[in-house]
Amino acid sequence: MAFWTRRKPIESEPPEGQRLQRTLSWPHLIALGVGAIVGTGIYTLIGVGAGLAGPGVIVSFAIAGAVCVCVALAYAELAAMMPASGSAYTYSYSALGEGAAWLVGWALILEYSVVVSAVAVGWSGYATSFLAAVGIDLPLALTQGPHVAGGMINLPAIAIIVAVAGLLLVGTRESATINAVLVAVKLAALLAFLAIAAPHFDAARFEPFMPFGFAAHRAGDATVGVMAAAAIIFFAFYGFDAVSTAAEETKNPGRDLAIGIVGSMALCTALYMAVAAAAIGAMDYGLFASSTEPLAYIVRTLSGDAAAAWIAGAAVVAIPTVVLAFLYGQSRIFFVMARDGLLPRRWAALDSRTGAPFAVTLLTVIVTAGLAGFLRLDEIAALANAGTLAAFVAVAVSLLALRRSAPERPRPFRAPLAWFIAPAAMIGCAYLFISLPLETIGRFFIWMALGAPVYLLFGARESVLARP
Ligand code: ALA
Repeated sequence: MAFWTRRKPIESEPPEGQRLQRTLSWPHLIALGVGAIVGTGIYTLIGVGAGLAGPGVIVSFAIAGAVCVCVALAYAELAAMMPASGSAYTYSYSALGEGAAWLVGWALILEYSVVVSAVAVGWSGYATSFLAAVGIDLPLALTQGPHVAGGMINLPAIAIIVAVAGLLLVGTRESATINAVLVAVKLAALLAFLAIAAPHFDAARFEPFMPFGFAAHRAGDATVGVMAAAAIIFFAFYGFDAVSTAAEETKNPGRDLAIGIVGSMALCTALYMAVAAAAIGAMDYGLFASSTEPLAYIVRTLSGDAAAAWIAGAAVVAIPTVVLAFLYGQSRIFFVMARDGLLPRRWAALDSRTGAPFAVTLLTVIVTAGLAGFLRLDEIAALANAGTLAAFVAVAVSLLALRRSAPERPRPFRAPLAWFIAPAAMIGCAYLFISLPLETIGRFFIWMALGAPVYLLFGARESVLARP
């Protein structure tokens, strides 16, 4: 057997004595999912998306949401079947072999890091606006990267990454109660936005509906169209894999995981489409498309400074949960890959007191803060999406591969219509991928090419499965 086709046995039961308590049911899982999903995507990239698609950005939300629901069903089946850490990486290792798992893990390392940067940049827009509302005006040079005239470095974005990583390093885990409160804050702010924007709704603002057409195409420096917006807006939807990491702790995985994963996706898709429709209906999209805090900007124009400050304040307190979820996810991916021997073990060594991997977290902070301090949000988000789309395709392929190779394995949850939803997920993800800007696709392949020698020179030899 070629080394890249080595497969990890499916471990449905963790070793004796290491079993986690089954304490979670579906409301906890929905809160966990929404906590990791709702962030910079809806709060900030909605403006970017509207700028690329016009009012048709609503269709972009629907397309990205539909693709993610298909992927989410595949995740739900695999997570219930293999409740082990590592999500897409672990599923691919068992279903497709070590080479594919390496590619997925390498893509996830990119995704998790770059998401952290993108969410931090989105947070910075709201933090700057909130500080201005309470009388602290930060100079533009310190709140925007050099791509903006007069900008130099995005310090708030760097600060939030350092702060959240600090929490992680002192051993902070997401407490279910705090997470639930912050989820409520995030959702309340979006509902308040709907209530403020709805009375100003004017259907005439939806004409023309698709001023830049449907398919992604180049217009000057930008890639525009409804699909180009969908490829960016896709960012708003992921994070539901956070739910799959709780599979082992779920009371009734067959029911609760599916409700948790698919429920949080469905809830977010409906809410996002409503927020997008309300934003477009309340204000000419051209006015908020380039804002760094579009929802607060719209509310300020419609309802005054105080209401906008509340929205910005809610974003400031609640969005860091997304940074925490992805920084944590990053450390888990490193940990699992190192445990499998595909990355140096020392990198992922956990601190015995806090359980946090110090070296990896520090490295992640340096890289993500560097990206967040100097780069444009849409470029960073697009790169995160490329890595995620690749991992999602692997999950959909793994679903079908395991249906074939391990049909008899117990599946506490079976994805309905697997032979329809998995191909739909693969085609949808591929279409979103090719709708990304060419530069992003190029950067993604450079990253993947860098991974090949790391695997061939290190992982392929040091893999636990290579040892007798
Ligand atoms: N879905 C997450 C967000 O929008 C990554 O912030």
